[in-house]
Amino acid sequence: MTDAKPVLHLDDIVKTFPGVRALDGVSFSVMPGEVHALMGENGAGKSTLMKVLGGIYQPDGGAIYMGNDKVVMAGPLEAKAKGIVFIHQELSLAEELSVAENIYLGELPRKRFGRVDWATLTERTDAILKKLNVGFDAKTRVGDLSIANQQMVEIARALTVDAKAVIFDEPTASLTDAEKVVLFDVISDLKSEGVGIIYISHRMEEIFKITDRISILRDGQYQGTVATADTDEEAVTQMMIGRTLDLSRNTSHHELGDVALEVRGLSCGKLYKDVSFEVRRGEVVGFYGLVGAGRTEIAETLFGLRDPSAGKILLDGEEVRIASPADAIARGISLVPEDRKGQGLVLGMNCRDNMTLPQVDDLKAGPFVAEGAEIAIFDQYRDRLDIRTPGWKQQVGNLSGGNQQKIVIGKWLSMHPNVLIVDEPTRGIDVGSKSEIHKLLRELAAQGYAVMVISSEMPEVLHVSDRIVAMYSGQIMRTFTSEEVTEDNLIQAISGIKSGQAA
Ligand SMILES: Nc1ncnc2c1ncn2[C@@H]1O[C@H](COP(=O)(O)OP(=O)(O)OP(=O)(O)O)[C@@H](O)[C@H]1O
Ligand SMILES: [Mg+2]
Repeated sequence: MTDAKPVLHLDDIVKTFPGVRALDGVSFSVMPGEVHALMGENGAGKSTLMKVLGGIYQPDGGAIYMGNDKVVMAGPLEAKAKGIVFIHQELSLAEELSVAENIYLGELPRKRFGRVDWATLTERTDAILKKLNVGFDAKTRVGDLSIANQQMVEIARALTVDAKAVIFDEPTASLTDAEKVVLFDVISDLKSEGVGIIYISHRMEEIFKITDRISILRDGQYQGTVATADTDEEAVTQMMIGRTLDLSRNTSHHELGDVALEVRGLSCGKLYKDVSFEVRRGEVVGFYGLVGAGRTEIAETLFGLRDPSAGKILLDGEEVRIASPADAIARGISLVPEDRKGQGLVLGMNCRDNMTLPQVDDLKAGPFVAEGAEIAIFDQYRDRLDIRTPGWKQQVGNLSGGNQQKIVIGKWLSMHPNVLIVDEPTRGIDVGSKSEIHKLLRELAAQGYAVMVISSEMPEVLHVSDRIVAMYSGQIMRTFTSEEVTEDNLIQAISGIKSGQAA
């Protein structure tokens, strides 16, 4: 970096909400052509800081500078006009509108007499989509796209602006590996054009791969900025959470009980084929594979959300037909879904009620729900999962992204299921809480639960599993014990190479 002026300089920013000092004096600069990571635990203040930059919140103190000028971001449109582009953690698209309309919302190209120039709109949009190499076009309705593709639309929208700074708030949480490659190319293009980039993520590999510097927040307080090349995961973790973590593999084993769940020759159309496995009480079985390998679909079948086209499901040795999620819950199966936003939470409802929602009927004392019992459940999982909130009365919509996810996880754990299925349990969760959740899953197994963990993160499956099922394209390629698994043979198996096992 030369003695160029920073694109952005934040000076002593303060922001409070009722009961929460979300930002407590944060200062750092972003240089042109720099990818600047912003890291911190769930609830540390990252998204809030970016919303201050994007004109969504007004700070209670401090100032923002662009070049030499002090600027006030009176609102999102003004921030955009100043060249600050924001890709949100929560998607902010209009589902009923087309991809093109979403991308150019508020700035649709017009013909004479103010009519929308659809031909130009479609042409411009398709040109951007081509650059992003996506499999949908300008006219697609946004509501029909997957979450990952909606994320790509947000990114496309960012590319239409003459940006000085682009903020990515956990952009890869729902992207496939191929989409990540495209995203990183986009970032590298922006970088070479001299745009300043702020990149928020809990994924250390990404941070160390694409960023130049890292600024760290803890409880809304600025901890410092380090050059990525001069630091490592351990040092960053220490700055974020004030301690280091044991990230080694699982070596503990508990006594295994009976087979709780057995699946024989299960198929579901083209989604997965002839899948057989068992999970014992006391066991954590990891399901590893690429996005699209069929793991989520198996989980959905076990939870009564999909009908299998062939094969059998046995619970405690008895064949069952799981007709619906209610049926699954009644049989002691819980699923922590992958898409927790869509499937898990009522944002306008408070933390406690969200967490105890599926149990409300069981907690009833006479005609009323036993409030004390509900609060006790909430308190227990708030402590265990370290959920940061001023109290159970807080609306879930006001929690940080990661803390919202913890509420969903707590909700399903508190049901004490026989079979617990978790799909990408730590997506969007900070490193400290991640290791807490891993510990909790191991403990649940030790208490006699059968646990299935679906994850796309290799360190995670290695860390929690007693056995690992490797899937590729809807089929099980191989099952490993934690003693025999290596990173190499696992990668081979999920890439579709059968080895060490008769086909
Ligand atoms: N609108 C709001 N009303 C009340 N509290 C809020 C609001 N927005 C954020 N907070 C609180 O401010 C703190 C910081 O939240 P923020 O969303 O910035 O965290 P984050 O660092 O982005 O976390 P994550 O990694 O989980 O996304 C949290 O305690 C959160 O509950
Ligand atoms: Mg956030």
